[in-house]
Amino acid sequence: MSAVRPDISEIRKAWKDANLAPLWENAKAHRPAPPPEPAYLWSWHKIRPLLTAAIDIASPEVVERRVLQLVPPTHQDEQRTSRTLAANIQILLPGEKARPHRHTMNALRFVLEGSGATTIVDGKPCPMAEGDLILTPAWTWHEHIHEGELPILWLDALDVPLQQYVGTGAFEAGPAAQLPETIADAAFAVANVVPDTDYTTKEYSPVFRYPYAAAAAAVAVAPPARDGSRRVRYVNPLTGGSGMAMMDCFLVQLDAGAVTLPFRTTASSVCCVVEGSGESQVGGDTIRWNKRDIFTLPQGNRIVHKSSGGTARLFQVSDRDLYARLGLLREEYGNIAA
Ligand SMILES: [Fe+2]
Repeated sequence: MSAVRPDISEIRKAWKDANLAPLWENAKAHRPAPPPEPAYLWSWHKIRPLLTAAIDIASPEVVERRVLQLVPPTHQDEQRTSRTLAANIQILLPGEKARPHRHTMNALRFVLEGSGATTIVDGKPCPMAEGDLILTPAWTWHEHIHEGELPILWLDALDVPLQQYVGTGAFEAGPAAQLPETIADAAFAVANVVPDTDYTTKEYSPVFRYPYAAAAAAVAVAPPARDGSRRVRYVNPLTGGSGMAMMDCFLVQLDAGAVTLPFRTTASSVCCVVEGSGESQVGGDTIRWNKRDIFTLPQGNRIVHKSSGGTARLFQVSDRDLYARLGLLREEYGNIAA
């Protein structure tokens, strides 16, 4: 006696009504990973006039922050720059203020053009000049005030996409209240000696401002890193770890004529060119970059950097430390097939 074959359409309907779905019909299950996303470059000479246009259209008084998001073609739907990072350009005019607020998203500012502004982080003033990095870590109050003479433009990077995914995003408008205790940057000005404090309970660096002159001096004398470039990391001086939990920052120097070893990582990053010019092979594409250009290095691509002519320096923000702490960081150097 043969078994009665079940009616598949009835079973499917019953599954659907019960909110069940067969994994073997899921197009994404048990398939190889998709190819890496291509890199994307925002050329400063192309976007600079378009940034200026935002000055007439938006005022921080009205829109909170005058910001243009950097959204590559691969992330138009989600309005993000990489899987975990949102990178933007923010503009402040002389005399303008961007009022205080705080959010659970970690953020950083890297000054691309101009000087004379100040970001106040939990009451601590952080002067902003070209090449300076300012951290505004999760849930710290921050505002921006510009008392300089020319517009200032900086790169913002935030862990917004990651926090949206894990459901932890929160925002609070100012005025700032109940400011926590902070430690003056002067307390960290002597190399290899730090205050003995319970500040290590925090998830971020007690230093919010990393002046470019200091980072540039450090990278100039750094020994070659694994890919042959010189690299320094912006760290929390109390732990030696990344300055903020979700974003890990580096200054990379390519000496004159340098070509790095091929490199591949599961982490993604966004770079901006601080000095010099050059090119990067990212997967099958070659990106040619100049000062203030911004480009992505999406995870999984084979990467080779090359300076053209003189010394070049790149600021890089990545999710590398996040991936390392999750046990998801895999990095290869050297003989990597294209
Ligand atoms: Fe903010």
